[in-house]
Amino acid sequence: MARERTFVMVKPDGVQRGLVGEVVGRLERRGLKIVAMKMLWIDRDLAERHYQEHTGKPFFEPLISYITSGPVVAMVVEGDSAIKVVRSMLGKTDPKEASPGTIRGDFALFTGRNVVHGSDSPESAKREISLFFDEGEIFDYRRIDEEWLYED
Ligand code: RTP
Ligand code: MG
Repeated sequence: MARERTFVMVKPDGVQRGLVGEVVGRLERRGLKIVAMKMLWIDRDLAERHYQEHTGKPFFEPLISYITSGPVVAMVVEGDSAIKVVRSMLGKTDPKEASPGTIRGDFALFTGRNVVHGSDSPESAKREISLFFDEGEIFDYRRIDEEWLYED
C-alpha cells in the first residue's frame, strides 16, 4: 500500500460551469481524502511556475491566459496510489479522446478547456503542492470510512 498525496485543481472553466461539487464529489466517493482546499485566482507568475515544463511550447501562452482567466479551486488529495488514480479519473488531456466516465470524458470537449488538473508524477505532486500550499494548510486526519475502504 502506498499512501500518496497529489495536487488537483478545478480550472477556471470548471468553476464557471459549476463543476466544483461534481469534481470534489467524485474524488470523495472514490475514497480519496481532501486534506487541503482553497479558491484562488492564479497570477501570471504562479501560472508560469506551475506549468514550467511547457515553457516555450506553442500552447504555452493560451494555457497561461486560460489558467489565469478566473478563480480556480486547488486541492491536495490523499489516498492509496492517489497520483495514478486521480489521473485515471481525469481522463486523457484531449477530452475528445477521454473515455466516458472520466471527468474530461463526461464534461469537456477541448484540450484548452479541460476542466481539471492533476499531478502526473510523485515529483510533480511534491512540487505543485508546495507551490500552492503551506504545510500548515494541509491537514492530517482520519475519515470515518477508512476502516472499510482500506484492506489493511
Ligand atoms: P494538466 O497538466 O492541466 O493536468 O493536463 P495534462 O497533464 O493532461 O496535460 P499537459 O500535457 O500537462 O498539458 C497541460 C495543459 O496544457 C493544455 N494543452 N494544450 N493545444 C495543445 O496541444 C495543448 N496541450 C496541452 C491543456 O489545458 C493541458 O491540460
Ligand atoms: Mg500536466
